[in-house]
Amino acid sequence: MATETVTVDHSTETIEKMRREFAARFGDCEGARVYFAPGRVNLIGEHTDYNGGHVFPCALTIGTYAVARLREDRNLRMYSMNFPENGVIESSLDGLAYRAEDGWTNYPKGVLWAAREQGYAADRGLDILYYGTIPNSSGLSSSASIEVLTGEVLRDLFGFDYDGIANAKIGQRAENAFIGVNCGIMDQFAIAMGRRDCAIFLDTATLAYEYAPIRMDGVRIVIVNTNHKRGLGESKYNERRAECEEALEELRTAASQGSEPSGRREIPSLGALTEAEFEAMADVIKSPVRRRRARHAVYENRRTMRAVKALKEGDLAEFGRLMNESHISLRDDYEVTGRELDTLAEAAWAVPGVIGARMTGAGFGGCAVCLAREEAVADLIREVGERYEREIGYPATFYVVEIGDGPVRLA
Ligand code: GLA
Repeated sequence: MATETVTVDHSTETIEKMRREFAARFGDCEGARVYFAPGRVNLIGEHTDYNGGHVFPCALTIGTYAVARLREDRNLRMYSMNFPENGVIESSLDGLAYRAEDGWTNYPKGVLWAAREQGYAADRGLDILYYGTIPNSSGLSSSASIEVLTGEVLRDLFGFDYDGIANAKIGQRAENAFIGVNCGIMDQFAIAMGRRDCAIFLDTATLAYEYAPIRMDGVRIVIVNTNHKRGLGESKYNERRAECEEALEELRTAASQGSEPSGRREIPSLGALTEAEFEAMADVIKSPVRRRRARHAVYENRRTMRAVKALKEGDLAEFGRLMNESHISLRDDYEVTGRELDTLAEAAWAVPGVIGARMTGAGFGGCAVCLAREEAVADLIREVGERYEREIGYPATFYVVEIGDGPVRLA
């Protein structure tokens, strides 16, 4: 079982190492600037962001670094210290299009494309080196981190005047229209708007948000990676989203046909419904599978609102109970957990001093997030680690994390 305590790095040593690598790939590092954007973990409110519901994520102190410099021509040259075997991948500002052979550089290319669509056209090429400290496919948003980071690099180097929320929207647009994953706004928002020691209570229907200080003395956030690669995750993700949209359509049709004018109502999203309103009309959703998907979206949204209220009132036990309930709903109604995540959550629930545990992110592998009393962290790592390895056959990785800030220029 592997354990890492992850804290802010941003050390001179890391920065110097990246500069040296940059110089080795691009000649020298004259005039190159250094940036960082975090990854994120979602505490509660899963698969609600594309259903007009609430989410409660926070930025982490692990994330992605970039060393970047403008070029005189229109060429793009990108290198990742995480994929040295791919070497420098070259493309151009002319004809920005998704190309499988461009690999991970499709993310930054997508951001250049989406920014241009919003009127922020880069008119010079770039040399960029990336270095990520988020484990790939962990569900801690390494892709949204690269997107928001690239948005920040462009903002700074070209003097673009968009704010954090606009940067998040550019990243989401890149993901939706360039990469082809129909994600909501949560990841890019949490990263672009991250604030140290705060989670973000975001209403995805309006983008109204509030920072909730996570002052939990003696409590730690522990992320556990299943180390299970997501595989079909992206197509399943799009499928869940389509199921929710179809269920919403069925509810809308029924609501608009209500016989009494007072009985007719608009339903802007599943997030607009209370549990009782949903239950009163749920049987118009024809397929039981779609009904369960919609039920998760409605209940998870309300659960998130209740969880944030509990946290504000200092009722951490209730917050943890709602986290556990969230996992069960994602397991039984939304069906995005799988054996690995279920094993982690169930093992964590059995450890005294664990306040709550659930899968986080899209699911289908990736990570679980646990809130645990400080003195229980060692037991959590040992007991969950042993059970996971015994039942799944390979080890999980544990990260004791801190909540960090949004994107920054470091040098
Ligand atoms: C992924 C997506 C987010 C969100 C979560 C599930 O992380 O990128 O938009 O839908 O899954 O809550």
